Amino acid sequence: MTNIFADNILEGKVAFVTGGGTGITGGVARAFAEHGAKLAITSRKIENLEAMKAAVENNGGECLAVAADVRDFEAVQNAIAKTIEHYGKIDIVVNGAAGNFLCAANELSPNGFGTVVDIDTKGTFNVCRAAFEELQKSKGQILNISATLHYLATPMQIHVSAAKAGVDAITRNLSVEWGPHGIRVNGIAPGPIEDTEGMKRLLPEPLKEKITKRVPLGRFGKIADIENAALFLASDAASYINGVTLVVDGGQWLKGTSLG
Ligand code: COA
Repeated sequence: MTNIFADNILEGKVAFVTGGGTGITGGVARAFAEHGAKLAITSRKIENLEAMKAAVENNGGECLAVAADVRDFEAVQNAIAKTIEHYGKIDIVVNGAAGNFLCAANELSPNGFGTVVDIDTKGTFNVCRAAFEELQKSKGQILNISATLHYLATPMQIHVSAAKAGVDAITRNLSVEWGPHGIRVNGIAPGPIEDTEGMKRLLPEPLKEKITKRVPLGRFGKIADIENAALFLASDAASYINGVTLVVDGGQWLKGTSLG
């Protein structure tokens, strides 16, 4: 898939991307680097970051890899501090770190529910909070990756639905509280995106055809679809867009994400 963005639209920007080693957010990180941004990527495990770091550097970009669990505020503060030490600033924060598994509500333990809320929702808050002063200095922006699961109801996903509803609330609240500080806060809600670890793990192959039929545009999304939305929101072309969560799902949620 081609994109319409000039190679240098993020020239001179530093992007701090959680979950930036793999999957959808890995694609966003790589696209940002291809369009001029210097990267700092984090994940719980440093080995999840190494391939992305090598790919970005082989392509002539810059990439700092720092292990941090977004649930641990001190670890997040440390990752932000290392990024500042390395690059001197942060312009863009992307919150993509997430946890997911399928589980019926009546079988899910309170700790299972809380674990996903801690990673997705509290993790997003932790990173935004830890980056605030730097984003205030750079007049930067935040991009939160959520989902459409909670717009209606998605069985086996009560924990993720609750967590992503919280992420969308964070996007809206911070856009109002931090807009006056010069910080834009937006989100992206991806629909079913192919070739991601999450989709491979969560979606049994026979269901793929059933889901495809429920997408008005008749196909799964590609990681590049999310990359393009992220490039637009991160660019100056979106300089008056604040507090929006852009749905990139081919219209799927309007027909319902449940297959029942
Ligand atoms: N079904 C039901 N409960 C589950 C579960 C599953 N598949 N996976 C984890 N849990 C529960 C655990 O049982 C535990 O609760 P308990 O103490 O009451 O038993 C709780 O969640 C924490 O599990 P644990 O494995 O200790 O957490 P973790 O912090 O190591 O990892 C996840 C949690 C969610 C990140 C883990 O599922 C994971 O590593 N997933 C793969 C990565 C991922 O989700 N990527 C996102 C792709 S969209």
